[in-house]
Amino acid sequence: MSDLESLRTRLLAEIAAAADDKALETARVEALGKKSALMGFLRDLGGLDVEARKARGAEVNAVKAQVEEAFAARKAGLKSAALEARLAGERLDVTLPARPASAGSTHPISQVTEEVTAIFADMGFSLREGPQIESDWHNFDALNMAPEHPARQEHDTFFMSPRPDGSRHVLRTHTSPVQIRTLLEEGAPVRFIAPGRVYRSDYDMTHTPMFHQLEGMAIGKDVTMANLKWVLEEFLKAFFEIDNVELRFRASHFPFTEPSAEVDVRCDRSGGKIKLGEGNDWLEILGSGMVHPNVLRAGGVDPDQWQGFAFGMGLDRLAMLKYGIADLRGFFDADLRWLRHYGFNPLNVPTLRGGVSG
Ligand code: PHE
Repeated sequence: MSDLESLRTRLLAEIAAAADDKALETARVEALGKKSALMGFLRDLGGLDVEARKARGAEVNAVKAQVEEAFAARKAGLKSAALEARLAGERLDVTLPARPASAGSTHPISQVTEEVTAIFADMGFSLREGPQIESDWHNFDALNMAPEHPARQEHDTFFMSPRPDGSRHVLRTHTSPVQIRTLLEEGAPVRFIAPGRVYRSDYDMTHTPMFHQLEGMAIGKDVTMANLKWVLEEFLKAFFEIDNVELRFRASHFPFTEPSAEVDVRCDRSGGKIKLGEGNDWLEILGSGMVHPNVLRAGGVDPDQWQGFAFGMGLDRLAMLKYGIADLRGFFDADLRWLRHYGFNPLNVPTLRGGVSG
């Protein structure tokens, strides 16, 4: 084999073996660079006579052209291989869901709060809020509970440290102080609900130190107990999504209402589960009554001109009843597994038209 022929074979093999751009570039310099053997052959042509130079020149140039062609082909090959590899690495599975399933869910208390808000809004009740750290006066005195009133003891109050002026605030023990705040701010007539957190020092299967209440109040010229009954019945039917809710008004006592009534719903407890609207048992779900004249007065409303009702219920209890949640404490454990089980799709906003349960 001639020198030229063996050089050709070697160079083509080296180019073919170049595994990446860098190796290919090294091979190119070696094959075609100024100091390469091939260029040496070209330089040597000068020493030949005309005929021999023509023949030898054609041979060497043919090898050079072949090597250049092999180089270009290998370069293109490496490029498309790199592209292939990149595409394979960035492969998209278009059959996957467009977005991962939502990781969060709406807590049952938030869900129930939105449900009751939608239902009462439909009956003309707007939404009010009050502070969770409340003055003694708003939480008790203004609600017709003087400092020595025995009902104060029943509230298991959490007290804040005394303020510089000697006053002592409390964590509100119920949502009823929102009655006073709203009356003072807006006067009568007024119709609102006030959902929110309340606090009592109590902890067992059915009590947590923080829980949720829903306050309701309607004050007008001729608002009566009959209106209260109708509103509560409508509310419970819409909330529990059953038509045969049966209520029992039981005479009771709250300092801030007169007369007062506790309201029970008919239920069935056989089989370890509570079913509303049937059976022979009663379940207490709320306190209510006609607003006491002293409360109206504390709110700056003249009891000779205005009257109305108020009610308060436990939102946690409502959520447990509606969604079959057995232990109250689960609400506040912040356990993701519990939330995934009992939580609601955040995109389903409860409305009366769309269905309150979302
Ligand atoms: N505030 C009462 C409670 O916490 C409930 C209630 C509210 C009763 C309004 C009557 C009227 O138990």
